[in-house]
Amino acid sequence: MKTAVIYNSQTGFTRRYAQWIAEAAGAECLELSEAKRRDLSSYDAIVFGGWARAGGIAGLDWFKARMDQWAGKKLIVFCVGGSPIDSPEIEPALNRNFTEAERKKVDVFYCPGGFNYEKMPLASKLMMKLFIKTLKAKKDQTEEEREMVRMISSSYDISDKKYIEPILNCLDLA
Ligand SMILES: Cc1cc2nc3c(=O)[nH]c(=O)nc-3n(C[C@H](O)[C@H](O)[C@H](O)COP(=O)(O)O)c2cc1C
Repeated sequence: MKTAVIYNSQTGFTRRYAQWIAEAAGAECLELSEAKRRDLSSYDAIVFGGWARAGGIAGLDWFKARMDQWAGKKLIVFCVGGSPIDSPEIEPALNRNFTEAERKKVDVFYCPGGFNYEKMPLASKLMMKLFIKTLKAKKDQTEEEREMVRMISSSYDISDKKYIEPILNCLDLA
């Protein structure tokens, strides 16, 4: 199966997952800006990875706008975020990014990444600062929120190659 793995990454976690998947699948790995310039009609499978941004998936609009023209291809989306794999927020957040009709055409996965403040652009850093400040200011903070503040206040890496297994299974490769 001729496969393209396309990624949109701000600090490198999504790129790393895309490279792992492409290597395991013998697929071509393309950054989103490069994929935009390419004719992707000859691929049998298109895997798109985008980083989680306030519940959304960065770059997903580009992918969704092409889903109809890619009918007949295997379509997979993976989202890479700072939340751990067992976070109850993940499933509902992923679902909010797709209509029911879209979900029938695409398989969707989540891979935990982390935070890398050293590589993060200033605008994102400021957004995170504001988010952390808002959470800290909340009077009736839950234990989960306190834990989240602790976790996202500095850089961490919870990415692991094992999280690509379900995606490889979906491509009939595992
Ligand atoms: C502005 C902003 C919003 C974010 N929103 C979320 C989110 O809603 N859920 C989540 O799990 N991670 C969120 N993150 C964390 C990133 O998705 C995470 O750092 C991811 O690993 C980045 O991937 P990248 O290195 O490919 O850019 C957010 C990060 C930033 C900077």
